[in-house]
Amino acid sequence: MKNFNYQAGTKILFGKNKINELADEILPFGKRVLITYGKGSVVKSGLLDAVKSELKEKDIYIEELGGIQPNPRLASVREGIAICREKKIEFVLAIGGGSIIDGSKAIAAGVNYPGDVWDFYIRKAVPETALPLGTILTLAATGSEMNGSSVITNDETQEKLPTSSECLRPKISVLDPTLTFTVNKWQTASGVVDIMSHIFEQYFTPDLGTDLQDNMAEGILKTCLKYGPIAIKEPKNYEARANLMWASSIALNGLMVTGKMSGDWGTHMIEHEVSAIYDLTHGAGLSILFPNWMKFVLNERNAFKFARLGKNVFGIEESEAMLAATKTIEAIRAFFTSLDMPASLSDVDIPSEHFKVMGEKACQFGPIGYFKRLNGEDVTAILKMSK
Ligand code: NZQ
Ligand code: ZN
Repeated sequence: MKNFNYQAGTKILFGKNKINELADEILPFGKRVLITYGKGSVVKSGLLDAVKSELKEKDIYIEELGGIQPNPRLASVREGIAICREKKIEFVLAIGGGSIIDGSKAIAAGVNYPGDVWDFYIRKAVPETALPLGTILTLAATGSEMNGSSVITNDETQEKLPTSSECLRPKISVLDPTLTFTVNKWQTASGVVDIMSHIFEQYFTPDLGTDLQDNMAEGILKTCLKYGPIAIKEPKNYEARANLMWASSIALNGLMVTGKMSGDWGTHMIEHEVSAIYDLTHGAGLSILFPNWMKFVLNERNAFKFARLGKNVFGIEESEAMLAATKTIEAIRAFFTSLDMPASLSDVDIPSEHFKVMGEKACQFGPIGYFKRLNGEDVTAILKMSK
């Protein structure tokens, strides 16, 4: 296990009706708030009105920016930055899933930055300061509610790129599982695949001596296997939604990668290329790609890690490591399929014409991945395996 520093500075307010405590948590940061949300789910559910009345009771001034899309666009970010500057906003409150939170992080980072906010995503600059941010999570998936990462799509260049900085980590996040009761089957399943993928990205690394972290990772995977199907079948099952919601946050708040050099993140970078062009739901892209990435990187030296996962998570008893690894990858594919998640790019009508360019773009800043370094040709090969 390598040396590490760990701090997850987000205050979590977990449970039913926790939005009631939010106004008091925001006040130390300021009284002028921009509320951001998506295409309407929070309007329809009444959540937006409930939050506004909570804040107004404490004399908090509110501006709103709705309409942020899944795979959030740079245009919404620029709109939000302009509002914050004009209205002297002191705190950004994102209500929604990862897209709303990521867009809001970009807004928070861009307000006091003299250049173009896209600079952060093309690695021209790193966010050093940001407006304080809070979130009310409505979809268990990305972990954005407890981490410092943001992923934004630039329609003009057809790029979807991440940035990361401690200053983007939300100060407060409300995790009320009942707010996810209305998430449909597709988004629930995509969220489960995303949570599991975050674990895979941090579990499959060359680091040794991280048994505790790997045990925790396996526990989160087992939680997804148990509660994913229940949440899909019974959308209002509180325990299922609660376990998935907390899994979302824990899977990607930095804890899983402690003692390791880094996560792999190759599959995520490939998925971002797919959704940049085709606007695919993130978890659906991961469902297609992850088992194929696994097949591509599997070899005699690393098979033991797949075999360990297979034994501890799927109960695969097989002494020959390569065989156990293959069975594990098959079990992961079968689970994704049981959630009605796609298995190939053709399942979601994505043609092969851009595979080569996607490979090159995924590696525009250099090779990707840590478990196995991938160049553009490797990425194209994984896309071909996924077609
Ligand atoms: O827009 P509304 O109307 O709110 O509807 C949304 C949207 O259509 C809907 N939804 C959310 N909560 C709901 C609900 N519908 C009914 N009831 C509710 N309670 O779900 C749809 C998808 O929302 P979105 O925010 O896009 O989903 P998700 O949380 O999966 O976020 C995906 C984005 O996050 C990025 C992805 O690449 C993608 O752009 N990621 C961010 C990460 C991070 N910041 O750490 C890491 C991830 O790996 C990922 O890359
Ligand atoms: Zn993800």
